[in-house]
Amino acid sequence: MCGIVGAIAQRDVSPVLLEGLKRLEYRGYDSAGLAVVDHNKQLQRIRVLGKVNELQEQHQSSPLQGGTGIAHTRWATHGKPSLDNAHPHICRNQVALVHNGIIENHEQLRAQQVDAGYDFSSETDTEVVVNAVYEALQTTKELLQAVFRTIEQLEGAYALGVINKDEPERLIAARKGSPLVIGVGIGEYFIASDVFALLPVTQQFIFLEEGDVADIKRDKLTIYDSNQQIVERPINVSELSSDVADKAGYRHYMLKEIFSQPNAIAESLENRIEDGRVVTSEFGQNAESIFQQVKSVKIVACGTSYHAGLIAAHWLEEIAQIPCQVEIASEYRYRKSVVVDNTLFVSISQSGETADTLAALQLAKKSGFLNTLAICNVAESSLTREAELVFLTHAGPEIGVASTKAFTTQLVGLFLLVIAIAKQNGLDSKQEAMFVKQLESLPGRVNQLLQYKDDIENIAKDFSDKHHALFLGRGSFLPVAMEGALKLKEISYIHAEAYAAGELKHGPLALVDDDMPVVAVAPNNNLLEKLKSNLQEVQARGGKLYLFADKTSEVESTDGVYVLKINALYDFMAPILYTIPLQLLAYYVAVIKGADIDQPRNLAKSVTVE
Ligand code: M6R
Repeated sequence: MCGIVGAIAQRDVSPVLLEGLKRLEYRGYDSAGLAVVDHNKQLQRIRVLGKVNELQEQHQSSPLQGGTGIAHTRWATHGKPSLDNAHPHICRNQVALVHNGIIENHEQLRAQQVDAGYDFSSETDTEVVVNAVYEALQTTKELLQAVFRTIEQLEGAYALGVINKDEPERLIAARKGSPLVIGVGIGEYFIASDVFALLPVTQQFIFLEEGDVADIKRDKLTIYDSNQQIVERPINVSELSSDVADKAGYRHYMLKEIFSQPNAIAESLENRIEDGRVVTSEFGQNAESIFQQVKSVKIVACGTSYHAGLIAAHWLEEIAQIPCQVEIASEYRYRKSVVVDNTLFVSISQSGETADTLAALQLAKKSGFLNTLAICNVAESSLTREAELVFLTHAGPEIGVASTKAFTTQLVGLFLLVIAIAKQNGLDSKQEAMFVKQLESLPGRVNQLLQYKDDIENIAKDFSDKHHALFLGRGSFLPVAMEGALKLKEISYIHAEAYAAGELKHGPLALVDDDMPVVAVAPNNNLLEKLKSNLQEVQARGGKLYLFADKTSEVESTDGVYVLKINALYDFMAPILYTIPLQLLAYYVAVIKGADIDQPRNLAKSVTVE
C-alpha cells in the first residue's frame, strides 16, 4: 500500500526522504515522487512511474534541495499507475500533499471543485484533498487551519502529509484509518507510514491516534486530537536498529525471513513459558479470568493470517474441546452474524493495519463478544490499540510481501492461546507440560527442515514452466496446503489451488493431467492411508505428484511420484513444520521464473484500504 515519508529539518531533507521511500518499498507500489519547498520558497517536485531507484537517479541528475519535504510511493487504487497519478499532488504551485487511504466522497468533492474552476491533472481520489486545502488556505491564510477545514469534508481513510510554499518551516500531518508515525529527531521531525522508514534518522517515535492532526515545525511539535484540542502523545523508543531492513546476505528478504524462523519462533516463545506452563498473562492482565469464561472462539483474519486461524480451529476443538469458527474479515464485516454467549473474538494480523481485519474488530466490539484479542506482529499498530487483549508475536519486521515468519509465529501464539484456554477446560499440568515441550522443540525442528532447501530447489525446476498446480491436504493440513498454494501463486504467478484431498473426486480431478503438478502434505497420522488412496486417483490420471511426507510414512518415490521424506514426526507442531518446505518451494519456483519476489506485482504488504 502507499507509503509516506516527510521531514522538516535544517539540513537538506531529500536524502532522508529517498532513503525512507526505499525502506517502504516492501509495502508494494507502482510509482514514486518527492516534493520540497526550496530555498526560494518554491515547490519543487519529481515523480517517476516505476521504482524508487529511478527516482534516486532522477534526483541525482537534477537534485531538489530544501529543509521541508514530503515523499510517497503509490499503490494504485483510483486511477491507473501513471506519472500524472503519482504523488505528491500539487495545487496551483502553492500546496503539495501526499496521501495514503481512500477518500470515499471524492466524486462529490471533485464535482464541486470542477464547478469552482479547479483543473484536475490526475484520476486520483487524492487530488480533491490538495485542492480543498488550497481553497481553505485562501481564507485561513495558514496551513493548519486549512487542513482542519479540509478533513471536515473528507469521508473515508487517510494519512496525509501537507506542505505550503509560503510556510516553508511547517509540515502538517493527519491520520484517520491509515497509519502514520512521527519520528522525533534533535531539532528536526519526520513523518512516515511506519518506523522502518525512519530508523536511520531516529529511534524515537510518536504514534498518532485516530483523528489526530500534527502541526510540525523544526523545533516544535503540537498534536491536536479529533476535537482539535491539544494533546500529549507519548514518545516510544524503538529497539529496532536501522539494519533490520537489511537482507543480511540473503538474495531476497523472503529467503532471509524463511531462514530466520527458528529465531523468530524462539523469540515469540520467550517469557511466554515458565516451568513447563504457559504464562496466560502474556495475553493481557485479566486474560486468565476471561479465558475461564470462554465457551467458544471466533477467529477473523485475511490471507495468510486467515490460514493460521484455520489451523488453530483444529487445535482448539481437539485440545481445548471448544468450538471455533474462522472467517475471512472482508466477509464477516458485511454480514449479519449471530454471537454465541461467551465467545472470544480473535483477530489475527501481521501488520495490524489490514483495513478489513480492523473493521471486523471494530464491529465485534459492538456485537456482544465476551472479549476481543489481537494476535499481531506490530506493537502500536491500529489493531493492537483497538483490541482489549493483545498477544504480540515477536517475529521481527517482515519485509517480503509473502508472509512467512509472521505465519509460523502466529501459529505459535495461537497454540499458546489454545493451551491457555484448555487449562480452564480440564487440561491437566502433565498434558500442558507435554504440549509446552512440543512448542519448545519447534525452533530446532524448523531448522532441520530448512536443510532440505537443495532438494526443494531441485523440485522447483519442474514447476517453473507450469501454469497451474494443485495442493492437497487433510484435517489441519488442509490450511497448510492452502497456505502453500497462496505462497506459490502470489510470488510465482502460477495459478494454484488447494483442496481437501477427499474432495478431489468431487470435481478437481477433472483438471488432473501430466501438465498439472499436484503437491500433497502427508504427515504420518490417522488420515495417511486415506490420503494415499486420494493420491492414487491422481496418479491414475497421469498427474505428477510431489509428496512431502514424514520419514516414517512408508511412501516411496515411483514413476510419477516424487516423495521428499522429511523429519517431521507427527504431533501438534506438524502443521507448522510442513509449512516450511512449501514456503521454500514457492520461493525457488519464483527465483527460477525471475519474479519480483519481495514485491510481487499488484500486491501490497500492508493492505490499509478495502
Ligand atoms: O497484515 P495481515 O496479516 O493482516 O495481512 C493479511 C494478508 O494481506 C496477508 O497475509 C497476505 O495474504 C500475505 N501477503 C500472504 O503472503
